Amino acid sequence: MLPQGTAIVQRVRSGTLAGVAALLLGAMSPGLAVAQDDQVAEGRALVQMYCTDCHATELTGESPHATAPRFRDLHLRYDVEHLAEALVEGIVTAHPEMPQFEFDPDQAMAIIAYLKSLEPAQPAGQ
Ligand code: HEC
Repeated sequence: MLPQGTAIVQRVRSGTLAGVAALLLGAMSPGLAVAQDDQVAEGRALVQMYCTDCHATELTGESPHATAPRFRDLHLRYDVEHLAEALVEGIVTAHPEMPQFEFDPDQAMAIIAYLKSLEPAQPAGQ
C-alpha cells in the first residue's frame, strides 16, 4: 500500500504546486469557514458522482471495489492535501482499473475539503 501513496506524494512534490498551494493556504485560513462548508458540500457531490462506484466515500461502508481505499482512511496513508495536484493534473494510480480524472483547481480543493471533513478531529491512537 505505502509505495503507491508515496508515488503520488512524490509526484506532487516534484510538480509546480504554487497555484494549488496558494488556494490551499486560502482554504485553511479560519476566516473562510463558511466558504469551506460550501466546498465540503461540493466535494461530496463530486465524489458521489465520480468515485462511489469503487470507493467508500462516507464515514461508514466498505469500498465496492475491494482494493480501492476507503476515502476516510486516506489520511492514514498521507496528508490528503498532497492529492491536490494529482487531482488537477490527472490522478494516476498504479492500478489500471481506476480511470484517470482531471478536475479544475476549485473542484480539486472541494474534493480535498471533503476528504478532510472525513478525518477524525483527533488522529487515531493519539
Ligand atoms: C473504477 C473504479 C474507481 C473509481 C471510479 C475511482 N477509483 Fe480511486 N482507486 C481505485 C482503485 C482500484 C484504487 C487502488 C489503486 C492501487 O492500489 O493502485 C484506487 C486508489 C485511489 C487512491 C489512492 C491512490 C494512492 O496511490 O494512494 C485515491 C486517492 C483515489 N483512488 C481517488 C479517487 C477519486 C478522487 C475518485 C473519484 C474522482 C476515484 N478514486 C474513483 C478505483 C477507482
